[in-house]
Amino acid sequence: SNTLKKLKHFIMEECTKFEASVKVSVQVYFMLHCESSDYLWLPRSQLSTKCHGLEKATITQANTPVGTKLVYDGEKKRTLQVNPEIFSTFFKGHPFPNKTWHTCAVVGNGGILVNSSCGKMIDSAEFVIRCNLPPLSDGYEKHVGIKTDLVTANPSILLEKFGALMGRRRKFVESMTSYGNSLLLLPAFSYGRNTPVSLRAFYTLEDFESPVQPIFFNPGYLHNLALFWRSQGLRTIRLSTGIIMTSLALELCDNVQLYGFWPFDFHPYSFQTLTNHYYDDRKTKTKFHAMPDEFSHLLRLHSQGILKLHLGDCK
Ligand code: CDP
Repeated sequence: SNTLKKLKHFIMEECTKFEASVKVSVQVYFMLHCESSDYLWLPRSQLSTKCHGLEKATITQANTPVGTKLVYDGEKKRTLQVNPEIFSTFFKGHPFPNKTWHTCAVVGNGGILVNSSCGKMIDSAEFVIRCNLPPLSDGYEKHVGIKTDLVTANPSILLEKFGALMGRRRKFVESMTSYGNSLLLLPAFSYGRNTPVSLRAFYTLEDFESPVQPIFFNPGYLHNLALFWRSQGLRTIRLSTGIIMTSLALELCDNVQLYGFWPFDFHPYSFQTLTNHYYDDRKTKTKFHAMPDEFSHLLRLHSQGILKLHLGDCK
């Protein structure tokens, strides 16, 4: 009878989960296929006036001269006065042209990309943005593509995968070859611990003459973006990389196409179980990120025709 009780409990739990999955999917289906009568807001112009991503998303020698006091966006009490040595690591020139790109693909790392065959469609975008140094080879190409114009790197990956770049650094440089001559965007001034490892990434790529160009997020931009999303009703300790890159793309591109954004563990159409990432099942830190809430904002933007969320297969 104990086994029967356990079995009953298991079946009830599975039914509740399934019911919840169907509810989410039905809501998503309606949002994806019906035009919203919600108030329409114009993210490109609002983002431009409040966050100025085009000029301020990244640190450049032009927008951050020697002597500037940088305020870390993750640790408000921490500041850093830019000295000539740090200044020499700042991007020379302007990373984004003064015109908008026609189509941008922002590729999240969600397990929904598994077997999606979206690689070609992603690669057909004029500008492709990826998050957190995702793997592109080993059979993933067909589903996620290979073209990369900008890729972000969370310093925790540099710590875990490349020994914080304290020892031999060739493996790191070699792993970067899959991103061609893209921009590597690092949150060097978000937390104090990010700065030394981001600078080591910069020096490593420079010393090995890698075609990848490191560039740093501007903490002022990240701060303003967090305020912006808070004003839209999004409550989260830290914005996820995906929503940060989507926000930037809304300023830089006429058409924003999202792939790999689905923070749930079941497929919206087949209800099959999904891993959290297309390459592993490491879970998101729910303490910091509120991805389902972010997702509902992205869904609203989709239903207003402001961006396009791809959830199905691209066959
Ligand atoms: O470092 P972070 O947790 O922000 O991101 P990640 O797990 O490397 O994934 C990159 C982005 O893809 C996230 O920031 C999310 O916006 C998105 N994502 C999603 O929508 N659904 C998932 N199951 C996983 C990631």
